[in-house]
Amino acid sequence: MTSINTPPIVQIESPVALAQALAKTIADRLSNAINATGDASLVVSGGSTPKPLFEALRVHELDWSKVSITLADERWVPESDSDSNAAFVKKTLLQDKAAQARFISLYVDGETPEAGVATVHARLKSMAQPFTVLVLGMGGDGHTASLFPDAPGTEQAMIETESLVSIVKPTTVPQARITLTLAALMNTPCQLLHITGAEKRALLNGVLENPSESNYPIARFLQPDNDRISIYTTE
Ligand code: 6PG
Repeated sequence: MTSINTPPIVQIESPVALAQALAKTIADRLSNAINATGDASLVVSGGSTPKPLFEALRVHELDWSKVSITLADERWVPESDSDSNAAFVKKTLLQDKAAQARFISLYVDGETPEAGVATVHARLKSMAQPFTVLVLGMGGDGHTASLFPDAPGTEQAMIETESLVSIVKPTTVPQARITLTLAALMNTPCQLLHITGAEKRALLNGVLENPSESNYPIARFLQPDNDRISIYTTE
């Protein structure tokens, strides 16, 4: 780990070995929280990067029945849709030992995002707050969770403080998104950014050179005064 005014960076070339190291960090934090307070909450990201992480995490020995899991963001689609992050988490993470965990969905069947957002907020309020651990991903366009650069709703999601979730309608992806707000995400004491590949690392390096001048949403987590975030990367 290195840290001089930039977040600690864990760099491991193999995506699987990186995922195993990250899974251990997460499992330790969840276990410590359960020992201290009786329960723990985990926020994970969707997309493709977390698959080996979820496979490594789900076999860790801990009292998963005390863990609540939700997503940093969701595509507004039912679980029958192949783009559903909830379906991906259920298939990939909520297996083996982690099958005992409670999952909180960010999607409400049959509702529009606007009609469903209050229900999702109420569901999230039932989880241990602040969340124990947050795992963020990052897109090649610098988005994280569903805070997409310049997308309708992103600015609101970055200033919202009443609701834990907000709606974003990026023009670059097919579906509306629901995302945890910047405030809810930033409030998490253990924030872990998980990225793989040279392209994302190059973007990240650019942001880290001057985070206060960067307009990428991920930059909001990489300011020098955020000592809650660590980066796990292959490159
Ligand atoms: C989603 C995510 C999103 C993801 C990045 C990276 O629903 O798409 O939660 O924020 O973390 O887009 O996605 P990849 O891992 O597929 O590159």
